[in-house]
Amino acid sequence: MSKIFNVAVVGCGIGRSHIVEGYLPNADKFKVKLLCDLNAERMGAVADEFAITRRIASFDEALAMDDIDIIDICTPPGLHFPMVMAALKAGKHVICEKPLVGSLAQVDAVMEQEKASKGMLMPVFQYRFGNGIEQAKAIIDAGIAGKPFMGTVETLWRRDAPYYAVPWRGKWATELGGVLMGHAIHPHDLFTYLMGDIERVFGRVATRVNPIEVEDTISASLQMKNGALASLTATLGSADDTTRIRLAFENVTFESDHAAYNPGEKLWKIQPRNPETAAKIDALLKDWQHVPSRFQTQMARFHDALTGTGPLPVTSADSRRSLELVTAFYHSSATNEDVVLPIGPGHPLYESWVPAQFRAA
Ligand SMILES: NC(=O)c1ccc[n+]([C@@H]2O[C@H](COP(=O)([O-])OP(=O)(O)OC[C@H]3O[C@@H](n4cnc5c(N)ncnc54)[C@H](O)[C@@H]3O)[C@@H](O)[C@H]2O)c1
Repeated sequence: MSKIFNVAVVGCGIGRSHIVEGYLPNADKFKVKLLCDLNAERMGAVADEFAITRRIASFDEALAMDDIDIIDICTPPGLHFPMVMAALKAGKHVICEKPLVGSLAQVDAVMEQEKASKGMLMPVFQYRFGNGIEQAKAIIDAGIAGKPFMGTVETLWRRDAPYYAVPWRGKWATELGGVLMGHAIHPHDLFTYLMGDIERVFGRVATRVNPIEVEDTISASLQMKNGALASLTATLGSADDTTRIRLAFENVTFESDHAAYNPGEKLWKIQPRNPETAAKIDALLKDWQHVPSRFQTQMARFHDALTGTGPLPVTSADSRRSLELVTAFYHSSATNEDVVLPIGPGHPLYESWVPAQFRAA
């Protein structure tokens, strides 16, 4: 029998989805022992729904509990950095929702802390898991797709006033960014996961849709390290919610399912450009084993990593890559210049991309 890890879920918004999609289907691997939230009513409803008896408001108390193995951080983005650092220092394994932290300096500090800690850290990027995305990844990794030519990523979602009634949203101090950090971060991660590292970014950000501090509309032209070109577009002012990724390689063109929040689940349109490639894809996918999507597989693979039977499915390096793109976007838009990656200490936005007027005094 596999070891069952005891989990404390901190934050009962998306934290409820972690329970429903991630922990309950993996009940032989995880047990949610504790809920932590400042909102007692909300926590009570989730705790009652899943018969979780231990409920607390204090994060520090959760860290001090010896029988808790994993701290699952589902709080607003501005709290992630101090919470991840404290949980790692307390020796816990840590899962943290996106965005992991609010700057490259912070992610580098987290990566340093990881080296000194006995716990493992897994950031959340649940869109990476499911049959559609994983078949595309398998074809690319097998070398069948060939040279990457071009990619387009569209994150066209809709967010209106009720969404921004939650006080932490729309503000630099608490959301840390807009559509780049909170929404397009998932499709952009899928894109680099499949097409590789970015070399240069020319980006524009704007606030067009809602009366908020952070951006809600973006576009960029990219050059990848492998020479491919790409365009990224996103807005929160679409009529509906659509995510669409289209990637043209030498031998295959891929198009994602358009399901906004689970584009990796359903099979992607995979169009070989010649019969030899079609035959190779058929052979590769002949015995394909079903992969449940989103949190179910991300959590199951975290268990593999914790028990030494598989790699960590998402790493802080993956988060760093996504935050590097965000940094490049903001800098390019502010300077009207192309930004060359990688970005390290010494870059003007390494410590923070928050505009000066919104920084704490
Ligand atoms: N992966 C995804 O698809 C996805 C989807 C939605 C949200 N998120 C991310 O999850 C995080 C939470 O978003 P949400 O929509 O669930 O927010 P939310 O506001 O609905 O829930 C956050 C919860 O955290 C609680 N909280 C705040 N401060 C706390 C503290 N100090 N200690 C304990 N609890 C505290 C709040 O009371 C609230 O119940 C954000 O980082 C967001 O970007 C990810």
